[in-house]
Amino acid sequence: MQIFHRIPVILGFAISIVFCHAARTDEKPMMKAVVAHEYGAPEVLKFEEVPRPEPKEDEALVRVIASGVNPADPLTLSGKYAREFGTHLPLIPGYEIAGVVKKTGANVTKLKVGDAVYGYPTFGGGWANYVTVKEWEVAAKPKSLNFVEAASVPMGALTAWQALVDVAKLQAGQTILIHGGSGGVGSFAVQIAKARGARVIATASTANQDLLRQLGVGVAIDYTKTRFEDVTKDVDAVLDPVGKETLARSYDVVKKGGVVMSLVARPDPVELKKRGIHGAGISVHPDADDLTEIAHLIDAGKIKPIVTQVSPLSEAIAAQRQAATHHTRGKVVLRIADEPKN
Ligand SMILES: NC(=O)c1ccc[n+]([C@@H]2O[C@H](COP(=O)([O-])OP(=O)(O)OC[C@H]3O[C@@H](n4cnc5c(N)ncnc54)[C@H](OP(=O)(O)O)[C@@H]3O)[C@@H](O)[C@H]2O)c1
Repeated sequence: MQIFHRIPVILGFAISIVFCHAARTDEKPMMKAVVAHEYGAPEVLKFEEVPRPEPKEDEALVRVIASGVNPADPLTLSGKYAREFGTHLPLIPGYEIAGVVKKTGANVTKLKVGDAVYGYPTFGGGWANYVTVKEWEVAAKPKSLNFVEAASVPMGALTAWQALVDVAKLQAGQTILIHGGSGGVGSFAVQIAKARGARVIATASTANQDLLRQLGVGVAIDYTKTRFEDVTKDVDAVLDPVGKETLARSYDVVKKGGVVMSLVARPDPVELKKRGIHGAGISVHPDADDLTEIAHLIDAGKIKPIVTQVSPLSEAIAAQRQAATHHTRGKVVLRIADEPKN
């Protein structure tokens, strides 16, 4: 008799096991990430568990080992450029990644599971255990770098490459003035210019004169002591990551037919016309071919990333504050997972 009383209980238990199992198999895999649910200062960032992204047909899922920090991160987080940057909330920062391909969508042809890659996910998302990328956003990681070093490369090196190679078409024997030669973009620009056989003049503050010399610039200028226009003239190109007064004073040091490129403003067409020079506002974009060429230069020993700080993901707020100073020496990188063993 007693067993019949228990049948509903036993059945209920069995049904709940089936439901639990179904619910568990439906559950999305989770990951750790730095997330903003509102725009604002770096303090809005939270270190959370969120669902792991699923790659679409034209995407690959990358397990992130390290992710670089850029002045673009606090800018994106501020929400001021949400329309231009195509960002929306909740947002995971991180425009530079190095990691390992874990999964590929049906239409992905070049990337394979297990590939070590580095690159620039257009809409960020790198400050997490996993990120989805399009094939044209990543390339094979330089073999001579570990993942932390590789994660410091994409944004700065692509910006410098697209300015110097695509816009200025810098040639051997030409001269370029690189403002902020010690920073995330400038330190790559100096090395790319030198690799192309150009003569490099670069500026930085007193504390970074040693780095300019280490990078091999021909003329290092301490902008806190010397006005660059007093010691520079007739350059073929200027790269400006500073803007305002620095940009305004740069037009006069360029030779006729030369070019002023700014990362933060559009050069003034009136000033350009007056002097018969060209101008360009640079807007970096992810490009797998450019990343591949940069990786070759790195593996050939022509470019070396300058990583000055490595922090855990949980210190993302401090890293963003540093990026917002505009006085970072080389690059800051967030280590997200241990370097994989081969
Ligand atoms: N348009 C684009 O596509 C694009 C792409 C990448 C970056 N950006 C922008 O470009 C800027 C630079 O990026 P980053 O990653 O190189 O920044 P960063 O790592 O913070 O470096 C800034 C550099 O500027 C130097 N600097 C600061 N004030 C200066 C001054 N008055 N004169 C000369 N140099 C000065 C710093 O040298 P000291 O520390 O010695 O002062 C440092 O070398 C940021 O605003 C970023 O948002 C734009």
